[in-house]
Amino acid sequence: MALRYLEQIPVTGKRVFLRVDFNLPLVVGDRITIADETRLVEALPTIRYLIGQKAKVILASHLGRPKGRDANLSLEPIALRLSELLQQDVIFPEDCVGDAVKKLAHNLKEGEVLLLENLRFHKEEEENDPHFASQLAALAEIYGTDAFGTVHRAHASTVGMVSHFQERGAGFLIQKEVGFLEKILHKPERPFYALLGGAKVSDKLGIIEHLLPKVDGLLLGGALAYTFLQAQGMDVGSSRVEASMLKVAARILKSGQDIRIYLPQDHVVAESLTAETSTAVVRTFKPGQIGLDIGPETTKAYRDVLQGAKTIFWNGPMGLFERPAFAQGTRAMAQAIAESQAISVVGGGESVTAVRQAGLAEKISHLSTGGGATLEYLEGKILPGLKVLM
Ligand code: 3PG
Repeated sequence: MALRYLEQIPVTGKRVFLRVDFNLPLVVGDRITIADETRLVEALPTIRYLIGQKAKVILASHLGRPKGRDANLSLEPIALRLSELLQQDVIFPEDCVGDAVKKLAHNLKEGEVLLLENLRFHKEEEENDPHFASQLAALAEIYGTDAFGTVHRAHASTVGMVSHFQERGAGFLIQKEVGFLEKILHKPERPFYALLGGAKVSDKLGIIEHLLPKVDGLLLGGALAYTFLQAQGMDVGSSRVEASMLKVAARILKSGQDIRIYLPQDHVVAESLTAETSTAVVRTFKPGQIGLDIGPETTKAYRDVLQGAKTIFWNGPMGLFERPAFAQGTRAMAQAIAESQAISVVGGGESVTAVRQAGLAEKISHLSTGGGATLEYLEGKILPGLKVLM
């Protein structure tokens, strides 16, 4: 994918609008704190580069999905943390458009940083409203984006405003993300295995279909595996099954005849979705039993496959991993991927969380900052926020 990068554009002395994805998980208590600052930290190389080049840096992001102004979704705590990380002031206005913001942007000095207030406080951002887009564009002379997590959204700040600029380019985070995903899609070292989990087949259908012809094996876990097992004719007790996806699952199983599709052979079960402890590990289900994690045999079999991999992509937990009783499979997969010699890419919130919780982040080649964006990229879609940079 031939993208234009900010590095290729002279930025010294220019006002550069940099769309970032500072949509960070926050904890709202007596004061608001950041639960995971990965996306902020990952944007720092581009921000520091622009500062180093003496650009005038205007950062913009959404945060959450507010309906109008919402004090709990202000970017202020993120502006404070950014200022600490950069060890310099970050100017933080009350809004992202308007005369006062425009004045601040136009008065910026070389190397100074301005972070706009949450773009989604204006519904026009998500509506990709042309007037709102031109107000944002009026702040800067060059458009940049490093918001990989948001490039699947065609919003005013990711698409609408971009045509106002002759000079537009992507930052280092996008460069890194695209580099890994392109390698997986087009030049994976073999064998290449994809490990997919999560709740629903319908959420992963696009990626399964797009990756199937490219991988040497597909390993499935999580609730979505039960739709495949039932499609094979197995009785899965009261496990979650997407009835509308059974035919699709059967077709995928058939179409993957040359490619091995691995399904769980044993299961950690409980009698209720709210159970805190498991009642058994089973190979065949009794009525009422719900599969909530892959069992030890499956864990071992999947680990053995992953040990032989040269490329691994992982998205989606193997079970209800937020409950310790059903977290074993997901943790073991994080461990297996970390131990393998493969180029490993982990994408999607929960699998990335599992890797971080296990303290294994350093052992994974690339932890993607994109959830939906990563999946859509691997579905083979041309993402709108990247298309504008081609
Ligand atoms: C994300 O967290 O996936 C991105 O920031 C996009 O957020 P959205 O799904 O609210 O558009």
